[in-house]
Amino acid sequence: MAAPKIILDCDPGHDDAVAILLAAQHCDVLAITTVSGNAPLTLTTQNALLMCELAGLDIPVHAGADRPLLVPAAHAPRAHGATGLDGPPRPEVHRSEASNDAVGCIIETVRGHDDVWLVPVGPLTNIALAFRQAPDIVERLAGVSLMGGAIGPGNVTPTAEFNIWADPHAAQIVFATGAPLVRMAGLNLTHQLCVGPTETAALRTHGGAVSTFVADLFEFYLAGYRERAGLEAAPMHDPCAVLAVTRPDLFAFTARHVDVETDGTLTRGMTVADERPGTDASPNCEVAYSLDADAALALIVDAVCSYG
Ligand code: RIB
Ligand code: CA
Repeated sequence: MAAPKIILDCDPGHDDAVAILLAAQHCDVLAITTVSGNAPLTLTTQNALLMCELAGLDIPVHAGADRPLLVPAAHAPRAHGATGLDGPPRPEVHRSEASNDAVGCIIETVRGHDDVWLVPVGPLTNIALAFRQAPDIVERLAGVSLMGGAIGPGNVTPTAEFNIWADPHAAQIVFATGAPLVRMAGLNLTHQLCVGPTETAALRTHGGAVSTFVADLFEFYLAGYRERAGLEAAPMHDPCAVLAVTRPDLFAFTARHVDVETDGTLTRGMTVADERPGTDASPNCEVAYSLDADAALALIVDAVCSYG
């Protein structure tokens, strides 16, 4: 079966970096688009270029929105550091972005190919802008597999997950499009897929340049979770959105109606899923509730080690 055609929209970010490596192994990545999120756009774009150069990936990177639709830009240095990819010694990046028009790239790529998956793993600004500028592309999509939201507690606030909170108006547009098939990997799912010292050691044992770089990323990422929550495990959020496209058999999904709170003082960015038995709200997405974490972890470690 042909590899799924995807556009990976991201804000690297430690877990975004792993999602890039995983996607390149299992998908036909037509483009990587970047957005302000974990770090400012200049850095998330540089980090995407860094990962592509490090892994020898011939994938165009297009820079996108440097701020959300309406709310002020916010970043996540506590989780990802000032550069967005703190931890490893930072290699020189010789590559440049293919354009600063990620939205145009999304529109033209979807118009030029059948059955493209959009895989956004950062704030949904680029996706919302593309849908607003070119509504015709929605029905051409194979689907939208996003990392964002939560059925249950958030991370950036008690009620909201960072990607949705960072641009709630964009998220509301995306969830409301009724795209043929929106798959949501929220925190309730992604916290089931954690890396720890075992995976870090496996990458170090492999010893390639890419696996050593990712082992350094994991150690930084893990240190943050250890300090903040006393955990020896760090969730691999963004790779879940890739695996939901390449290996949906590893997941359990339930169709739900999900809406996004944009105005609440305490609930801005909350993804409100209607879980009422017998609700008459028609579903607009497939919410991932569980996955085979062992199989998913093995796929992630194997993908990273496959780069030599
Ligand atoms: O809340 C987790 C999400 O926010 C992940 O995509 C992570 O990379 C950050 O963007
Ligand atoms: Ca991300």
